[in-house]
Amino acid sequence: MTPPRACGTARVALGRSPAEGRYLLGIDTSCDDTGVGIVRVQNGKPEVLANALWSQKVHRQYGGVMPEVASREHVERIDAILEDALSQAGIPLSTISAVAATRGPGLVGALLVGLTYGKGLAQGLGVSFYAMHHLEGHIQAAVSEHPDLPFPHLALVVSGGHTHLFKVNAPGQYELVGATRDDAAGEAFDKVARMLGLGYPGGPAISKAAERGDPAGVALPRPLLGQKGFDFSFSGLKTACMLAVKSGVNADDLAASFQSRVVESLVQTTKRAARALGLKHVVVSGGVAANQALRTAFKQSGLKSHFPPMHLNTDNGAMIALAAVKNVLAGDVGNDWEAEAEAYLPLAQVPH
Ligand code: KG4
Ligand code: ZN
Repeated sequence: MTPPRACGTARVALGRSPAEGRYLLGIDTSCDDTGVGIVRVQNGKPEVLANALWSQKVHRQYGGVMPEVASREHVERIDAILEDALSQAGIPLSTISAVAATRGPGLVGALLVGLTYGKGLAQGLGVSFYAMHHLEGHIQAAVSEHPDLPFPHLALVVSGGHTHLFKVNAPGQYELVGATRDDAAGEAFDKVARMLGLGYPGGPAISKAAERGDPAGVALPRPLLGQKGFDFSFSGLKTACMLAVKSGVNADDLAASFQSRVVESLVQTTKRAARALGLKHVVVSGGVAANQALRTAFKQSGLKSHFPPMHLNTDNGAMIALAAVKNVLAGDVGNDWEAEAEAYLPLAQVPH
């Protein structure tokens, strides 16, 4: 079903192009985090001034995200999170010179809250509105820390909904190199954590348990071992974990063994892709990029790896403002009033 238009169909040319010293406000409500961030552009470089976040706890009792509940929570929290962001930045709302919000991919009802709110805010302020791609936000959270990153480079997005490897040819130009054939890496962390009764979200819980366990303690398969392409797969690994749990293995050993297989698969596949494409630099972002074992393995991989700062790994609003900075610097004036919330929104469709 096509989501209802969040705004009028007429193109409203309210935007003035934000330039130096201007303030961009970013909103992300794509899943279960209500995020509002503020970024200032100075000397052509972005600086994060605020990153206010409400991570919905209500889903813990279900062991996963309940879409309707998520939408309602976004509606209830977004005003307070905006206030929080403004007070972190120490500026009044009237200082904001552009608004950006995630249009997709994500849960449509949840996305609609932030997208509609962002358009309303921008219209009320008489400033530009940018409708952004969620994965571009994750990628820019890391890239903005490294403004001199050469093109082309690789970008690995590892989150609860995605495991995608892109070749980034120029700012905003993405080519899909590989993707998961089944579960996303974060989803696998969440599911294995649930099997072990470790709660939701599973990534942080698994990595904590893994610190106490032996990564060689449980024999698990190596996903897509020997493949020629650059895809990922985690469902076989997940099933092997389920069988291991049933056979009564030590939970910490299983967490460590599972984590080491996921890390190995992500790093080795990215390395092979980098070698095949003649690239040296890789940006790693998304919630799973918070994983310390993954960070260490990439640092030791021989690739030049670039991660977001720890507070920008998981979903947040600042990364959406950072993504919009790229548009602003490229001279795009925004005015995405007609953008709709999209559950499925590929960043790049052409496989390498
Ligand atoms: O990027 P994100 O906040 O939301 C999506 O766009 O999906 O990613 C959330 C995912 C969850 O699956 C969570 O378990 C995982 O990131 N995650 C981690 C860690 N912290 C969060 N996975 C592994 N290790 C972590 N430390
Ligand atoms: Zn995300």
